[in-house]
Parts: sequence; C-alpha cells; structure tokens
Amino acid sequence: MTSRPTGRALSTTAVTSGRPRAVPDAPLSEPVTLTSTYIADADGSMPPGRVYARASQPNWEALESTLAQLEGAESAFAFSSGAAAMDAALSLVEPGGTVIMHRHGYAGTFTLADAHAAARDVRVVRVDFLDPASLAGLVVDGPALLWAESCTNPMIEAIDLPALARMARRLGALFVVDNTFSTPLTVRPLAHGADVVVHSASKYLAGHSDVIAGLTATSDPELASRMLAHRTAYGAILGPHEAWLVHRGIRTLGVRLDRAARNARELARRLRDHPAVDAVHHPSLDGDPSKPVADRLWDGYGGMISLTLVAEPGTPSVERADAVIAAAHLVVSATSLGGVETMWERRTRHGEPESVPDSLIRLSVGIEDVEDIWADLDAALSA
Ligand SMILES: Cc1ncc(COP(=O)(O)O)c(C=O)c1O
Repeated sequence: MTSRPTGRALSTTAVTSGRPRAVPDAPLSEPVTLTSTYIADADGSMPPGRVYARASQPNWEALESTLAQLEGAESAFAFSSGAAAMDAALSLVEPGGTVIMHRHGYAGTFTLADAHAAARDVRVVRVDFLDPASLAGLVVDGPALLWAESCTNPMIEAIDLPALARMARRLGALFVVDNTFSTPLTVRPLAHGADVVVHSASKYLAGHSDVIAGLTATSDPELASRMLAHRTAYGAILGPHEAWLVHRGIRTLGVRLDRAARNARELARRLRDHPAVDAVHHPSLDGDPSKPVADRLWDGYGGMISLTLVAEPGTPSVERADAVIAAAHLVVSATSLGGVETMWERRTRHGEPESVPDSLIRLSVGIEDVEDIWADLDAALSA
C-alpha cells in the first residue's frame, strides 16, 4: 500500500480525491445531489456534461475520479452493481468474438459470460491460467477478450497479470481484470497491461456490507466511450446515495485493508496449524503456489482466505463444513466479502467448477480484533 504514482501514497489519495473544489464555505464532502435533470442555458442549450442524470451525476463523478486515480486510469464509470459493470466490460467483445476466462472465478461472471454467448454470438472458453501449456496452446479466431480476476474466487490464486497481458497482445485480445478481491491498494492491473479494470464496489471499496455498486476504469478513450455509451443506453446507473456511500467507504480503504490483511495473515498461519484444517489458501503462507506471483505483483497479501477441513469418518465433508460454519458466533455466515465484518461460506453452494473442493470454505477476514476472530474460528472448528 505504498505505491506513490502521484507522489502520495494511494491510501492518502483514497482520503483526499474527489472532494468538492476547496473554496471558502465549500462542503468538504460532496453533497448528495438528488435531481433527475439540469436546468438548460437561457438559449435552451444544455450545460456541458449536465444534460440528464442518467448520463452524468456529481456523486458518480466524485467517486469515479477517485477510482480512476487509485487505478491509474484516465477515466472510470460507476454502475448500479458489479454485475452491471461486468456487463459493460463484456460488451466490449464484438459479436463473433471469444471470451477467454480462467477455470476459477466468480460464478456470476460465468453466468453473465454465458448469457453474452447465448445472446450475441460470443464464444466462452475456460482454461487454466496457472498452466503455461494451456495458455500457450490458445488460438482464437476473430475478436477476443481475456478476462482475469487479479485474485481468484474462491481459490485465492494470484494471477500473473503481465504474462496474461502478453498473451492478450499475442491474441489481439482486450484484457479485462476484475480487481474486486485485491483493490488498487494491493494490485493495479492497468500498470501490468490490462485495458480495463472492473470492480464489484459492493465489497472492499464500499467496505461496510451496506450497498451494491460497480465500477469500471480504463485509460483507453475508445473503450471509455463505449462503456459510457453502454451505461447511458442501458441505464444501469448508480443512485446518488449509493455513490456517496461507496465514495465514503473508499476514504477508509487504506486502514480497513491494512487491518484485514494483517488479520488474514495471522489467521492463515494459525488455521494451517489447526488440527481440524486440511488446507489453507493464502498467498502469505510459505509454500502457497500463489506466493511468488503475489510477492512480485501485490502490495500485501489481501484479506481473503479459503480452506478445507480434515475429513471426519462417517460425516460427509460438505456436512462437516456446513456444521463448522453454523457453529460460529462472531464470524457471519453470509455470501459476500470485503466488509468490516469477518464472514464465511461454503462456496459450492453457488455451483463452483469441479476443480473447487465441495467443502471449500471461503473466509473474508474483517477488521475485528484478531484474537476475537481466532477464538470464534477455533471454537467452531473444534465443535
Ligand atoms: C469477484 C466479483 N466480481 C463481481 C461481482 C458482482 O458484483 P455485485 O454483487 O456488486 O453485482 C462479485 C460479487 O460477488 C464478485 O465477487
């Protein structure tokens, strides 16, 4: 979290960017603007950028300029959800094109990509981004879009973004990176060759499990104008209150992520040594296959862990995982991540690919005191 592209730490940029102009009497925080339209000039012409609130909105702009600065992008666009942001990014592949994805990823992304395939004559190919042979053998005909998660759901794999960027260039493909699990404070995909970054802002960016929102960012003017046109035409826009909440959340991203990542590192180590735990996935751990890539590309190791349990004779592993999850009191059983509260769930509830163990538990580490989280996890694992 120490990158200083503008001479300041990104955690400082998160605090300062997107403020109203600093003139006496100005509010320090962008006020929530509730309007559907803007008053025209005396001659009936529309003020630049202020035509109608489906096309532009001050609370989006404050949020977008903040994310653009954090991601090192020329522009960013807010959407009504991460899914809507992903839809705008997937729409960048032309009909007849191919979307290439890793075998592991957010289940909703696979659903959405399949929907594009059905509706727009797009082919979806899923390969193993961690297997150089499967990448080297990739051949596509026509337009293509390579889609990666910087840190994958739910296996917590660090993806080698520069290697994929080279692959994208070889294929003439656009390179889109979902940076939801990492945030720009951990990794900045555009600096590693991505064309577009996508976020579910419902997670770490907003950070308090109280809003659904999405964002895209890019430095390519053509891709920017296509995503803006997509948002304006389809209307998957973010409400002003929600934009304000995400922007407010980003203000504390540095301290939240610092604490969550510190907690996660300690918990990953303790979980690995717990007699009820079989495997732990967190790039901070010596021997974790993602550690070398994370050490090279990431700033810190993030707050996401996944784990499997030691088999108990006579109890199916899925039942055992569900029982452990239900036995926790502080750690919340819920599907999401990146909030201040620690939460966990068995991911195959959502139909993960076969390579994801049935009993895999995904743990989103929050900012509670690490000893309290550990006491709860230890008690649940020992129940
Ligand atoms: C990695 C990732 N990308 C995108 C999304 C979709 O975001 P949203 O739920 O905000 O629509 C999610 C949601 O869980 C996610 O985990």
